[in-house]
Amino acid sequence: MLNLDYTISNLKGKTILITGGASGFGAAFAARWASAGAQIIIGDINPAGETIVAQIRTESANENVHFIHLDVTSWSSQVNFFRQAVQLSQHGGIDAVVANAGINDRDEARQLENPTVDYLNDPHPPAPSSKTVDVNLSGVLYTVHLAQWFLPRNPDSQPCSESEQTSHRDRHILLVGSTASLHPLISQAPYTITKHAVLGLFRCLRVTAPVSGGIRVNIICPYFTDIGLMNAPARVILAGVPIGQPEDVVEAATYLMANQTCSGRSLVTGPRLKLGLPDRALLSRESLDEQTGEGEDSERGVWECQLHDVETADIFTERMLKAVKAVVATRGWIGWAKGLAGALAWPVMKNWNKA
Ligand SMILES: NC(=O)c1ccc[n+]([C@@H]2O[C@H](COP(=O)([O-])OP(=O)(O)OC[C@H]3O[C@@H](n4cnc5c(N)ncnc54)[C@H](O)[C@@H]3O)[C@@H](O)[C@H]2O)c1
Repeated sequence: MLNLDYTISNLKGKTILITGGASGFGAAFAARWASAGAQIIIGDINPAGETIVAQIRTESANENVHFIHLDVTSWSSQVNFFRQAVQLSQHGGIDAVVANAGINDRDEARQLENPTVDYLNDPHPPAPSSKTVDVNLSGVLYTVHLAQWFLPRNPDSQPCSESEQTSHRDRHILLVGSTASLHPLISQAPYTITKHAVLGLFRCLRVTAPVSGGIRVNIICPYFTDIGLMNAPARVILAGVPIGQPEDVVEAATYLMANQTCSGRSLVTGPRLKLGLPDRALLSRESLDEQTGEGEDSERGVWECQLHDVETADIFTERMLKAVKAVVATRGWIGWAKGLAGALAWPVMKNWNKA
C-alpha cells in the first residue's frame, strides 16, 4: 500500500457532504471517513442510500452518518441538501464537499453520434438527450456553487493554508474527475466532455477559490476501477487489462481530505504498476522542484497530474502583477486611476455616443 502523508484523526468531527454516496466510490469514501469519526452526509437520487447509511453506522459504530434524498440536476434539491446538512451538522457548518455523483450512459453516447430520428420529416423531432451533461456537469456546478457559499461560513474555520498541517475546521471541495478528464474515451463523448469540463473547473478554482473563499480545491481522476460505473460491457472491453483498485482511490481521496495542506492537487489513480518514471506523485510543489528525475521502481496506483498547470497559472498571475506594477511605475497612480476611471465609464460613454 502507498505511504501517504496524512493524519486520519484530522477527520474526526468534520462534516463532509458526498453527492452520489449511495454506491461505488461515494459509499466507500463514506465508510472510510465515518470509521475515522467524521460526520458524513450522503446525498443521492437512489433511496438505497438509506440502507448504505444504516450499514456504515453499524460497521463504523458512528451514528453521525445521514442520508438526504438529492437529485443533483435539480437546483432546489441541491439547495435543500445543503440546508438540511447544516441543520444536521454537529457544529452548524460544512467542512468539505465531494462532488462525486456521476453517470456514464452508453446508450445516450451511441445515440448522440448516430442520429436515428428523421429530422427532415418528423413533425416533433426530439432534441438529443443531455442527461450526462445534466448530472456530471450542471450537477457538479450546482454543488460547487453552493459549496463556495457554505464553506467560508463554516463556523471557526480558517482560510486554507498550504504551509500548515492543522486539524482546524476545514473548507474543502474535492472534485471527482476521471482519466477521461485527461484523454478522450472514444465513443463516449458525453462522459468525456463532462469529465474534461470538471478538470477545467478544477484548473480555474484551484487558483481563485483559496483567494476568494479560503477554500482548498483538489481533484481525483480515477482510471477504470473495479467499482460502481464499471459495468458488464466495460469489463468485457477491458478483459485482460489491469484496472484500478478501489482502495487506492479511497486512499488518494482520504489523503486529500485529511491533509489540510493539500490545495490545488490533482491525483490520478490507476492499476498498480512499476513504471520507473520520476516519482512525481504525492509531493509538495517545493519538493517536486528538488526532484532529480531519478526513476523509482516501487509499484503504485496513485500519481500526480496537471502540476505544470499550477506553474503556468502562477507565472501568468506573476506576469499580470508585474505588468500592472510597470504601468503604475510609468504613469504614476494618478495616471493609472484616470485609466481605470475611463475603463469604468466606457459602457456609459458607448451608449451615450450611440444615442
Ligand atoms: N468506477 C470507475 O471506474 C470510475 C472511473 C473514473 C471516474 N469515476 C467517477 O466516480 C464517480 C462515482 O462513480 P462510481 O463508479 O462510484 O459509480 P456509481 O454508479 O456506483 O456511483 C454514482 C452515484 O451517483 C448517483 N447519482 C446518479 N445520478 C444522480 C443524480 N441525478 N442525483 C444524485 N445522485 C445521482 C447514483 O445513484 C450513484 O449512487 C463518478 O463521478 C464517476 O464518473 C468512476
